[in-house]
Amino acid sequence: MNNNILIIGASGQLGKYFVDKLSLNNNVIASDISSSNEFKCKFIFLDVLDIDNLKSVILKYKIEIIYNLAAILSAKGEKDPNKTWNLNTESFLNVANASIELGIKKIFWPSSIAVFGLNSGLEFVKNDVPMLPSTMYGISKLSCEKLMYYYNIKNVLDIRSLRFPGIVSASKPGGGTTDYIVEMLYSGLNKEKYICSLKKNRTLPMIHINDSVDAAIQLMNVEKKCLSIKYPYNITSFNMSPDQWKQVINDLGYKFDVDYMPDFRDNIAKSWPKTIDDNQLRNDISWKPKYNSLVTAESILKSIQS
Ligand code: SER
Repeated sequence: MNNNILIIGASGQLGKYFVDKLSLNNNVIASDISSSNEFKCKFIFLDVLDIDNLKSVILKYKIEIIYNLAAILSAKGEKDPNKTWNLNTESFLNVANASIELGIKKIFWPSSIAVFGLNSGLEFVKNDVPMLPSTMYGISKLSCEKLMYYYNIKNVLDIRSLRFPGIVSASKPGGGTTDYIVEMLYSGLNKEKYICSLKKNRTLPMIHINDSVDAAIQLMNVEKKCLSIKYPYNITSFNMSPDQWKQVINDLGYKFDVDYMPDFRDNIAKSWPKTIDDNQLRNDISWKPKYNSLVTAESILKSIQS
């Protein structure tokens, strides 16, 4: 392996985990507009909306592969839909255009279960179904999914993608509809009451951060001919409601109370799948999750405390 890899949006929920894993075998440059993490690799300030700067970084560090993680998530995105559209789509286009011009080999770009809508159905939602997302985050991700497909079928770029569900990590996401899954772990540890913005029985698909990062890296490393689709793959691990998650944390010995005060985020969650079918990914790249809900809670609680 040993590629020169640029990670954009490295200060977000996923960045540090990608840096840690990719740095084992590659020369990694982490970048963002602010630095909130301690990285195991070089960090540079980079605004992905500045395409000239992006191009000079690619040239300076002889970048071959890009992980483009920059995004405004679903709940925060509804506070400023224009900004969300601009950041999410411009960052995608800048990376795509710079990559075409400078011959980047591969791009990983995460999509989301937010691309689905009520017309997709909510149970065991397949990869390729009707989609009318109801958030600007979902709309911007779906638009970029179409661009990704375009670049892939035209053979001008190799972009690979997973539709991430809620991701359970020690790092706090910020601005997502699924953030409760991380925040409740902190409340459990601190024995603090948690105010939940979703209904207690609002089930959504979830995944351990290590499973999501491993799957993304595996997807990037397989030969192109293994991939049966040129748009994002569904990915999932377990399905969870806030009440069930509270129970999992309680059963591990962390007692805390939850008040359920559903707000606009519950409306968003209501339009997302309860369960999704990721068999196409599992078949194409021989991947399956290693962490169930209990092991996920245990492992992230441990990592928050270490
Ligand atoms: N975790 C994201 C969100 O809640 C979904 O991709 O916005």
